[in-house]
Formats: sequence, structure tokens, C-alpha cells
Amino acid sequence: MADLVIDERIKERLLRLLRENRQAHKIRSHGLSPRKKILLIGPPGTGKTMSALVLAGELGLPLFVVRMEGLMTRFIGETAAKLRVVFDAIQSTRGVYLFDEFDSIGAKRAYANDVGEVRRVLNSFLHFIETDESDSLLIAATNHPQLLDRALLRRFDDVLEYGLPEQSSVQATLKSKIGHFPCGRLSFKRLAQASAGLSLQFSSRVSELS
Ligand SMILES: Nc1ncnc2c1ncn2[C@@H]1O[C@H](COP(=O)(O)OP(=O)(O)O)[C@@H](O)[C@H]1O
Ligand SMILES: [Mg+2]
Repeated sequence: MADLVIDERIKERLLRLLRENRQAHKIRSHGLSPRKKILLIGPPGTGKTMSALVLAGELGLPLFVVRMEGLMTRFIGETAAKLRVVFDAIQSTRGVYLFDEFDSIGAKRAYANDVGEVRRVLNSFLHFIETDESDSLLIAATNHPQLLDRALLRRFDDVLEYGLPEQSSVQATLKSKIGHFPCGRLSFKRLAQASAGLSLQFSSRVSELS
């Protein structure tokens, strides 16, 4: 969790998710279930995939990434069958399952004309997520929440909205990533100002060079 630079409110909710899933047994023994289906919304490079990785690491569970776009096929019924395979795995192997690029359910070109097929896939996803009783964590991530309808949003236990970082976070991140290089009279404040509107993804590039 330490490397993740996020809004305090989001951090709070991720920590709560961790707490509830660590104590899943206790919660279930009271007839309740832990929060375990979450939707992450936000621009690219703001830490959605990274959050899934961190949650998996903290819970000591494997992370499985399901790219929704790769799941879609041209054949009616086949996509739903593939989804079933995924949800069977969710039942049998406890883990963190990230449905990445979730919006591509509605975005793929071949399907733009076939609203019926998109609807069917969405409906089977809704059905699967609704009936899921596994101990796995289900995380969907999207850059385009406007493509998702309200019915879908309601199926999640929590919806977290990621945003671009505050200037102070950018400054701190830059300092921790490249501060140990001899940078001369580099002003981190000015660098952070210049990066307004950018996500934190760029700073990881810098660290890859180091
Ligand atoms: N909030 C963040 N805190 C720390 N690093 C971040 C953050 N957001 C992005 N990064 C860096 O950018 C990379 C890409 O972020 P990623 O989680 O894949 O973004 P998203 O899934 O939201 O598009 C991460 O591996 C990390 O190095
Ligand atoms: Mg991502």
C-alpha cells in the first residue's frame, strides 16, 4: 500500500476492504458477507491496476487479470461461455480477479452495430456477479464509466473514483524516484507544476531508467 499515491478517502476504503476480507470468516459467521466486488473508475495511469496488485499482495492471493476485450468474440453465446469459465475459476481458485478494460464490453468496434450482443454479454456478467458466492475478490476497472449503465454500477459493493494526483503528491513522488540522482538545480516544485494534468504513470518511466 505504501507505494500507492492516492486520495485518503480511497485509501480508507481499500484498507476497509482488506480488513473485511482478512476477517471474512468472522463476518460470515454473523451471517454477513465481506465487501468483495468493487469497481475502479478513473483516467488511464492513475493506479487502478496497481491497486489490484497491491490488494492481492496484501491478502497473499494470486492476481488474475481478465482482459474484457480479449473475452469478446464474434460468435453469439461464445463470450458468455467464456465468462462462465472465468466465474468457475473464481469459485474454485481463491484470488483477486481484475476485469481490466471493463468498458471494452461496449467499446469494441465490431460490436458497435450489434447492441443486442453487447447487452447479452452485459446481462450474463450481471448475472454471474450477482450470484457469485466465492471467497475471491472481484475488481472491475474502467477509464470510461459513461459506457456503463446504472444497473451495472449497482451490482458492486463499492465504486472508487480515481483522479489525477495533487501537485504535492507529484512533487513527493518525483523526489522519491529521482531525488537520489545528481540533478543540479532541478526544482521539483516547477517540475510538478509542469506536470499538471498528467497521471503518475510518467514517474514510473523515470524509475525504470534508474
Ligand atoms: N496512484 C499511483 N501511485 C503510484 N504509482 C502510480 C499511481 N498511478 C499510476 N502509477 C504508476 O503508473 C503505472 C501505471 O498505473 P496503472 O495502475 O496501470 O494505471 P491504470 O490501471 O489506472 O491505468 C503504475 O505501475 C505505477 O508505476
Ligand atoms: Mg489499468
